[in-house]
Amino acid sequence: SEATSEKLVELAKRRGYFFQSSGAYGGVGGFYTFGPQGAALKGNVEDAWRDRFAVAEGNMEIDAPTIMPEPVFEASGHLDGFDDMLVECPECGESHRADHVVEDNTMYEDAESLEIPEVEEVIAEYELVCPSCGAGLAGQAVEAFNLMFATNIGPGDSQPGYLRPETAQGIFVEFPRLKEYARNQLPFGVTQIGRAYRNEISPRRSIIRTREFTQAELEYFVDPEEDDPDLEAVEDVAVTLYPASEQNKDEGEEIQTTIGDAVSEGIIGDEWVAYFLGVAKPWYDAVGVDMDRFRFRQHLSGERAHYAADCWDAESEIDGNWIEMAGFAYRSDYDLSKHAEYADDRFTIFKQYDEPKTVERATVDPDMSYLGPEFGGDAQAVVEELETLAGRDRAAFDGDTVEIELEGETHEIPVEKTGFSVDEETIAGEHIVPHVVEPSFGVDRLVYTVLHHAYREDEVDGEERTYLELEPEVAPTFVGVFPLQSDAELVDEASAIVDDLRAAGLSVTYDDSGNIGRRYRRQDEVGTPFCVTVDYETIEADEATVTVRERDSTEQTRIPIEDLPETMSALRTG
Ligand code: GAP
Repeated sequence: SEATSEKLVELAKRRGYFFQSSGAYGGVGGFYTFGPQGAALKGNVEDAWRDRFAVAEGNMEIDAPTIMPEPVFEASGHLDGFDDMLVECPECGESHRADHVVEDNTMYEDAESLEIPEVEEVIAEYELVCPSCGAGLAGQAVEAFNLMFATNIGPGDSQPGYLRPETAQGIFVEFPRLKEYARNQLPFGVTQIGRAYRNEISPRRSIIRTREFTQAELEYFVDPEEDDPDLEAVEDVAVTLYPASEQNKDEGEEIQTTIGDAVSEGIIGDEWVAYFLGVAKPWYDAVGVDMDRFRFRQHLSGERAHYAADCWDAESEIDGNWIEMAGFAYRSDYDLSKHAEYADDRFTIFKQYDEPKTVERATVDPDMSYLGPEFGGDAQAVVEELETLAGRDRAAFDGDTVEIELEGETHEIPVEKTGFSVDEETIAGEHIVPHVVEPSFGVDRLVYTVLHHAYREDEVDGEERTYLELEPEVAPTFVGVFPLQSDAELVDEASAIVDDLRAAGLSVTYDDSGNIGRRYRRQDEVGTPFCVTVDYETIEADEATVTVRERDSTEQTRIPIEDLPETMSALRTG
């Protein structure tokens, strides 16, 4: 229920998970600070992602700047195409996302895929109103609003730059170097975990839609003709799928299947995308996403980003709504081809053939300076045009003259003057533009989901209790250590235990304030899986033991002190 999010946001602030930033200055929408617990949880989730998607897959990780110069985003398409629809209220002046206004008011499920004139029509037809003040929006112009934050690099405005809207571009622009580190062998993958920035028109639902957030992205470069994923490794993974269909958003057909079956039945078209869905599902389970509230949904064609040929989202259910946590997109050769077009570097991989091949190559006379005067002296342009034509359409040279176009004018050149000939050549390989498969995870939304799915309320000893059933692998604090009372001997013993457990690499918190019940509740509320209490039996009995209390069951067992680091470490790794 909505109530869970409300309680969670309150708990998050009180216990140091996350809260709105710059509160002392009134706060600003869409920026959040992760407090001590939240930063630790987020760090653990990022480490778990790195272990699975970089280390275990043998991929390289990089760390690129968050500000990049304008030409990068001209090439990537973000400058022109990374827009949301904005409508401004004529009464109160507030700006809103027009597609959200449509979705919220008409229950239309996929307004993002509508064009601006269609959105304007819906607003007029249904007499939609401003979500802030209730004034009518009919007749208001809907504009495209670019989501990138702009800045200037250095003094003046001669070098515009942008805060990256996705970490991916930091990988693509470095492809010419990264391919060297991969010894020019496909397939290979490059990951990055870092901040991305989007000037969202209406940030909402706390850390679910913010203006600065963390992405964990993998760009996996493949030869589309040669490389296949190891589907056997994931074929048995059970998944809930929502394939694209007109009405699939909330009441469409849900399919329970396995990755292997989904591929053989053509439900997931691309095998690489299928592979990464298969890797992701158990990983989400391991970090604490409730698998009964998790699905993969395919994007409708109108919903896909400008670069995506196919895309599936990992979604989690929060308060009855499905939230996109990650996108798995087949980006084809879109990005590398674009950067090759705009930048001065090689965005290709040389693909060596098993055996050299003999090919026919059409050439033209490289010196046509005698034709120069007819073309304003630009013989080079004539050669280039003819070379392109010869490579693309040899039949164009079949007649007596060949037609080329230069600066919008058509010219006829006698074929014998072009020096056109077809020769045989032996080549060892060719330059190909790799295709990209991209699992792109939003870390903040995942952290929110993990907390939401872990939120529990029950009763212990007749008292209401709230606790977070976090997986030990990601819980910010693994164990709390308490002296039963603030007796010096108990305090000394507890402090020694803290040192031992920290030396074993565990995250430990020490607490000696308030009664023991209160201390347990505090740790329950931040999701600490275990608490160790030092009592009089610890220091008085022949064999020194402590109680270990388990968070979910609240069961307590006595364990010899000397076994504690080993026992706790084993519990941490499960
Ligand atoms: N490189 C691909 C890409 O950026 P995306 O679907 O736009 O794809 C990927 O973003 C993920 O980043 C999303 O699935 C989501 O988890 C997260 N994300 C996107 N916008 C966000 C925002 N405003 N606030 C928080 N997370 C966001």
